[in-house]
Amino acid sequence: MTKDTSVLLDEKRVFKANYKIVEEAHVKNWEAEIEKGKNIDKYWAEKAEQFEWFQEWDKVVDESKKPFYKWFTNGKINLAYNAVDRWISTNKRNQVAILYANERGEEKKLTYYELYREINKMANALKNLGIKKGDTVSMYLPMCPELLVSMLACNKIGAVHNVVYSGLSVGAFVERMNASNAKVLITADGTYRRGKIIDLKKIVDESLLKCPTIETVVVVEHTKSPIKVSELSGKEINYESLIEGESDECSVEHMDAEDPLFILYTSGSTGKPKGVLHTTAGYMVGVATTLKNVFDIHNDDLYWCTADIGWITGHSYVIYGPLLLGTTTLVYEGAPDYPDPGAWWKIVEKYGVTKLYTAPTAIRHLMRYGSKYPNLYNLSSLKILGSVGEPINPEAWMWYYKNIGKGKTPIMDTWWQTETGMHMISPLPISPLKPGTATLPLPGIDVDVVDENGNSVPLGKGGYLVIKKPWPAMFRTLYNDEKRFLEVYWKMPGGVYKAGDMARKDKDGYIWIQGRSDDVLKIAGHRVGTSEVESAFVSHPSVVETAVIGKSDPIKGQVIKAFLILKEGYKLNTALIENLQKHVRYELGPVAVVGEIVQVDSLPKTRSGKIMRRILRAQEAGEDLGDTSTLEE
Ligand code: WTA
Repeated sequence: MTKDTSVLLDEKRVFKANYKIVEEAHVKNWEAEIEKGKNIDKYWAEKAEQFEWFQEWDKVVDESKKPFYKWFTNGKINLAYNAVDRWISTNKRNQVAILYANERGEEKKLTYYELYREINKMANALKNLGIKKGDTVSMYLPMCPELLVSMLACNKIGAVHNVVYSGLSVGAFVERMNASNAKVLITADGTYRRGKIIDLKKIVDESLLKCPTIETVVVVEHTKSPIKVSELSGKEINYESLIEGESDECSVEHMDAEDPLFILYTSGSTGKPKGVLHTTAGYMVGVATTLKNVFDIHNDDLYWCTADIGWITGHSYVIYGPLLLGTTTLVYEGAPDYPDPGAWWKIVEKYGVTKLYTAPTAIRHLMRYGSKYPNLYNLSSLKILGSVGEPINPEAWMWYYKNIGKGKTPIMDTWWQTETGMHMISPLPISPLKPGTATLPLPGIDVDVVDENGNSVPLGKGGYLVIKKPWPAMFRTLYNDEKRFLEVYWKMPGGVYKAGDMARKDKDGYIWIQGRSDDVLKIAGHRVGTSEVESAFVSHPSVVETAVIGKSDPIKGQVIKAFLILKEGYKLNTALIENLQKHVRYELGPVAVVGEIVQVDSLPKTRSGKIMRRILRAQEAGEDLGDTSTLEE
């Protein structure tokens, strides 16, 4: 039997919003907004009015065929039109829409008007390649303006995009191409990574032989490097020559609210990748609303989300959210620590970034170098910071808050998923914050923590994180795999959405994510979340980063096995092991029995930076590692 978890990180620090933040915030009264959000029809209808519709919707949400929800039924709209065309007739026309910068110090700016014309040219070119509404176009591109242009060009003509992260290699690439039946692939000669040029085209060449549906390969000469662009069966065409001579005007496809918008394969931490399918109108409403409120977007913002576009964060919050709000989005191609660990802070200073959105993995990485690098730059333009992708350990939160935000900028710890499409649990700039928690569900979002039978668990106890009411940016299915869609997400009692995470609520109702349910440990019958154990380790001065798994134990069932990356100057010896064991027990209570600690140089992670505990478990059990296509090199 599983007892409730008595393993709790007890966080007492609370940070309140300063006067200026509250003064500027779009949402000034949290309670009132939550109250409004209780009527989801009315709430989301109001938010949908920010867009230009070609035809009004009949129903905000159609729940008649649960869990196949429909939003804004019979409404007609176009994403590219609302993200770009709409701004051309306003004073945003000549404002920078996309600011591209890279690790070589190069930059490229596209105003809304320039972007509009580029999109139209590409949209016309895609049509000439035979792409029609509903066809799939794949992209395997670095962070470059052509990627954004291509995605928006697809939206404009109703094609469905499938972006494959350019860090994935042959096996994963082939799988995703074939699963999505892509007709056209847009790729590049290469991408910059830590002073080197990665030959993307070579990976494509190797893969293409196994991708029969691809008829045309468009190649962006991004690096203009001497890498040989090998001709392959005459399928290739250079991006520049493709769009040359195309008209910079293109008619807008009137999309049904529920027409597919994109497929995105999740680089999930467990099992085979899933083709998450998002549709048009609800996604637009959800993403624009959350970005506006959570990052408090205003006209004078310079917004930077460091996520790769090949990941949902890149889709929702590098491209679509910012452009739908008419802001300037910074697209950066480069690592956080190249040429040195001050690279990102230099960008913040250079462009006067006001909103910065990144991931705990990057923060933990940069934390290793201490405050030296952030202190070399003027970061005073920053107003709001964000985090996404994993639970942020309280120590990492504090480092980010003190060293980057200088104690003045709130941190929006946003919990959401590829499947949810938009932020679900997150503070707003006015919220009181506690390091390590995404705080409360956003207005209009109904979240709970329940047991196996679907009953709410009392405050403080761990359980399954579920979402009880539909939300506009929810995915509609897994592409070509409805069975798995129903099995994985919709089998909880009450028909609620099962997120796959374990969580608990603290006395203020704040939600603490304990980790993925497949990763959870059972020590003497107690359910112990990986994230709380890992945060306890990270709060020890010797530890930079860690992953924990359960190790079989004849008495306790499982005990903790921890893989640690230590700070420079520390060595794992008996004294330190004892000290760490004591520390974790002190932080979490006697249930947290640490059975084994090993020191490692790196941890297995997905390309988006999530720790793959599954790999460590398989290794420990001497089993096959399973699907490793999303494993970072
Ligand atoms: C985890 C990323 C704690 C969680 C947008 C979720 C988080 C999975 C947070 C989805 C957060 C994401 N705090 N955990 N702020 N954000 N997660 O699909 O386990 O790449 O289920 O979407 O990441 O990852 P995905």
